[in-house]
Amino acid sequence: MAFRSFGSVDLSPSECYDMLVNVVTPRPIALVSTVSADGMQNLAPFSYFQLGGTSPPSLMISPTLSPEGTEKDTLVNVSATREFVVNIVTREMVEEMNITSVRVGPTEDEWKLACFTPIASDIVRPPRVAESPVHLECTVFKIIRHGDGPSASNYVIGEVVRFHVDDAMLEGQMMLAEKLHTVGRLGGDNYIDTGVPERFRLARPSTPLSRQ
Ligand SMILES: Cc1cc2nc3c(=O)[nH]c(=O)nc-3n(C[C@H](O)[C@H](O)[C@H](O)COP(=O)(O)O)c2cc1C
Repeated sequence: MAFRSFGSVDLSPSECYDMLVNVVTPRPIALVSTVSADGMQNLAPFSYFQLGGTSPPSLMISPTLSPEGTEKDTLVNVSATREFVVNIVTREMVEEMNITSVRVGPTEDEWKLACFTPIASDIVRPPRVAESPVHLECTVFKIIRHGDGPSASNYVIGEVVRFHVDDAMLEGQMMLAEKLHTVGRLGGDNYIDTGVPERFRLARPSTPLSRQ
C-alpha cells in the first residue's frame, strides 16, 4: 500500500467530516427521544452512536453543535432532564427516521412530522417509538464537550436502565440477531441494511422551516 497522510489541521472541517464518516462505517443509528424541561417531546437520529461497556450497560451519542455553533434540541433536552430513549432503527422505519432529522424549532414535533407513535417508558419521561422493535431507556452519566465551534462534539454518555425488545425477536432473554435488521449509516446519503447486505441511498429531506 502507498499511504498519503494528512494532519487534521491541513484538512478543512468538511474534509475532516468526509474523511471520518466515510471510514468509520457502518455506524448504527440511534433514534433518540427526549423531552424538554417544560415537557415538549423531541425525536432525532444520531449515527455518532456506540456502546462503551456493559456493566453497567452504557452507550454514547454525540449531538454535535450546529453549523451556527448552537446546541441541537436533543443536547439541550438531555442536559436539562438527564434522560433519553434510544430507539433502534430498522429498514422498515428508515424513511420516517430520516424525516425526524429535519431542522425544526424546539416547539415543532418531529413525532407528528414522521407519524411515529409514542408509547410511555417505564422509568424515564421521554416516550418510546412503537414502530421500533428495541428501545433502550437511558439516564445521563456524563456529558463531555470537545471543541467549541460548529460541529464540536458533545459526548452524551448514557446508562441503559431498561431494555424493551419485541417478543418476536427473543428466545427466552436471548436476542435472535438474525431477526433484527438494523440499518447502518455510511458516508454521504448511503446506508446498509444488515438483514440484506446491499447498499442503498436515502437523501436527507429538505428543510421546511429554518429557525435554528
Ligand atoms: C441517519 C442520520 C444520522 C445523524 N447523526 C447525527 C449525529 O450523530 N450527530 C449529529 O449532531 N447530527 C446527526 N444527524 C443530524 C441530526 O439528526 C439533525 O441535526 C437533527 O435536526 C437534530 O435534531 P434536534 O435539534 O431535534 O436534536 C443525523 C441525521 C441522520 C439522517
